[in-house]
Amino acid sequence: MKGLICAGGTATRLEELTRVTNKHLLPVGRWPMVYYPLQLLQRLGVREVLLVTGKQHAGDFIDLLGNGHVVARSGGETLFDLDLTYKVQVEAGGIAQVVGMASSFAHDDRLVVCLGDNLFEYAQADAVAGWQDGALVFVKDVPDPENFGVVEYDDAGHVSDIVEKAGVVDTRYERPPSNDAVVGLYCYPPEVFDIIAALAPSSRGELEITDVNREFARRGQLDVRRVEGWWRDGGKHWDDLAEVGRLIEETGVNK
Ligand code: G1P
Repeated sequence: MKGLICAGGTATRLEELTRVTNKHLLPVGRWPMVYYPLQLLQRLGVREVLLVTGKQHAGDFIDLLGNGHVVARSGGETLFDLDLTYKVQVEAGGIAQVVGMASSFAHDDRLVVCLGDNLFEYAQADAVAGWQDGALVFVKDVPDPENFGVVEYDDAGHVSDIVEKAGVVDTRYERPPSNDAVVGLYCYPPEVFDIIAALAPSSRGELEITDVNREFARRGQLDVRRVEGWWRDGGKHWDDLAEVGRLIEETGVNK
């Protein structure tokens, strides 16, 4: 099992905070944001990790993370000990494009994908340990489902569709069919790369991870679990960063 961190994008939603830096380098509590998904992968037992980011700030990620063995500045505690490699995404083309960039890295292995701005109270280790065939994704109910990819359920409670930002990206729907957002932690078998190779860009011109997940669902190969504990997307609004930092101090993170 290998890991992928998606750490690109221009993060215009964070306004002035991302004028000269990458959102995943911004502080969340005591750490730069990207430390948390790296720690999550380590908790899942992943050692080989690929980090993909844009060319503007790739050098800053290398300065910060080096080869993936990161020791705390105070006291010498090892924060994580990963085998980290990097790839540069020259033009932003969507999360599925980034996952596609991991094909030679993942080779025939399974891949755990973390969005670099998604933060979790629990690393979801039990669910991932039980992951077998097909793809595994996680959902959490949110008050603003129009801002996420969400799951649609049929009358029997099975997943019947997955919809990216209803009414904006996926115009088949005027409003989201449920409040269950698909969060940025995805577990994929090697077939994911064939699915991505066959994807067409969405209405916003990107390869959507939601379209990948919908294809696994269509094949009957998508397991959807509920997130254990809290989950936050740190890329939505500048005000969330301080709030998540406090939450982490209160409850812990990646438990
Ligand atoms: C992305 C995905 C979306 C998912 C969300 C989770 O959205 O496109 O499906 O629900 O991450 O954080 P973004 O944060 O890029 O708007």
